[in-house]
Amino acid sequence: PVAAAGTAPQPKASNIAHRGASAYAPENTLAAVRLGVEMKSDLVEIDVQQTKDDRLVVIHDTTLARTTDVEQKYPERAPWRVADFTLAEIRSLDAGSWKAPKYAGERIPTLAEVLDLLEHTRAGLLLEVKSPDLYPGIGQRIADELQQRPHWVHPDPAGRRLVVQSFDWGFIRHFNELLPQVTVGVLGAPSTGRLAEVATYSDQVNPHHSDATSEYIADVHAHGMTINPYTVDDPDRMRTLLDRGVDGIISNRPDVLHDVMH
Ligand code: G3P
Ligand code: CA
Repeated sequence: PVAAAGTAPQPKASNIAHRGASAYAPENTLAAVRLGVEMKSDLVEIDVQQTKDDRLVVIHDTTLARTTDVEQKYPERAPWRVADFTLAEIRSLDAGSWKAPKYAGERIPTLAEVLDLLEHTRAGLLLEVKSPDLYPGIGQRIADELQQRPHWVHPDPAGRRLVVQSFDWGFIRHFNELLPQVTVGVLGAPSTGRLAEVATYSDQVNPHHSDATSEYIADVHAHGMTINPYTVDDPDRMRTLLDRGVDGIISNRPDVLHDVMH
């Protein structure tokens, strides 16, 4: 057990699969999301950006080079920005081979595909909006996509969970105005002096794990927010953070986290 003998039982922390179970499957693909679910994650984290033709796609980098074969398929289109390619072009890319040959042919998914996949599982979604300053209107597009699925936007408190997060705190403030009923989080570690202001629009503070000291965790909780540090793959570090009282951990290895938590 994580809690020391004699301490009050804590609500169970969330196991959050980072970019899917990305230690094992190509990050931000349906294969990685599926594996995160199979490894019993409570939520799967993905990164969302926007194509040239205004479609919502799931990829971490703002360029396609690291995780696809775009340089071979479109050698003349450097620097291969997500924003400069249509959805049809992006769908023609192989987003799996870079990780392992068995994932050849894996595609960059749309946000809709990830939502469809998760519909049939017990896992929720931690949706990071990556670099929203590059994609005018992305907040409204995400809100529109979610509102087509009312059970995501009005979740049963005991059921499906959705959190929208970003390193861009101004974007999170804006998104909270668009869809106030959706849980939102800021990525990074606002100074203690700024937490009261952040708490006016955010439900979560999700910092790098090195910022999740016992004192900072207590400060975030004192402002009524939860805290879910990223990205933690070492079991000893997971235990330390759980002992300090974090509300969730974002990990590339949800199977390791599951073992630590049970
Ligand atoms: O969910 C937190 C984490 O994903 C933030 O960093 O760069 O992996 O998107 P990054
Ligand atoms: Ca992310």
